[in-house]
Amino acid sequence: MKLIEVQSYDEMSKVAAEIMIEQIKTKPNSVLGLATGGTPIGTYQNLIKDFTKNKTSYEKVMTVNLDEYIGLEKDNPQSYSYYMKEQLFNHINIPENQTYLPSAKSVEEEEAGRNYEKLIDSLGGIDLQILGIGENGHIGFNEPGTSFSSPTSIVKLAESTREANARYFTKMEEVPTHAISMGISTIMKSRKIILLVSGVKKAPILNQLFHTDVKEDLPASILKKHPDVTIIADQEALSILKESKGSVYS
Ligand code: F6R
Repeated sequence: MKLIEVQSYDEMSKVAAEIMIEQIKTKPNSVLGLATGGTPIGTYQNLIKDFTKNKTSYEKVMTVNLDEYIGLEKDNPQSYSYYMKEQLFNHINIPENQTYLPSAKSVEEEEAGRNYEKLIDSLGGIDLQILGIGENGHIGFNEPGTSFSSPTSIVKLAESTREANARYFTKMEEVPTHAISMGISTIMKSRKIILLVSGVKKAPILNQLFHTDVKEDLPASILKKHPDVTIIADQEALSILKESKGSVYS
């Protein structure tokens, strides 16, 4: 794993956007794997700024998102489908029918995962996958204990994840209990991966990630086995890692 140390959230967002823009310029029909949550918002803002100024074209780009809640309609402002339109798709020239998110109407819809796998395969696989990390080490919504060989499937959210995401809902009971998430094995097939880590809340898990072996209790640890992972982390996220004895820094 390559680590790019940046000062701030803003710098992380700029550096991530630059890598994505470079990817699109090199391969205009790139398949981009996208994440939601708080972390990538600044990256998407930089992509929008670049699109407005430099007209980088998304006409041929295809996107596949990591995950979506089960039980929220696409027009629900808390759905990831809505988020992606608000944060990115409505502001660039990507055709709507080239943007995909996994979706399942209910937890019984097991074929939804298989269909998403087939879709990603039919697009030729993911060129560049953007990831955030949960405070518990999840990637996508693959919670601790998920098999590393998991394909895209319906998952139960950890209570800590529901609590972390409750900030977007008016009350805890509204936070869905299940989601459909791209599998760990699917994420690992991406040709290149960028992991964005920002803020003091992520400092403990980033520290653990660097000090742990690859184990299913810490889903992000599998990234150590991927040949092309870049972590972009800001000073707050690096604060514990930089202090800890025997760290990659010392
Ligand atoms: C989002 C996703 C999650 C988030 C993670 C961090 O699509 O798959 O793994 O990346 O929960 O969320 P934030 O960025 O809100 O801290």
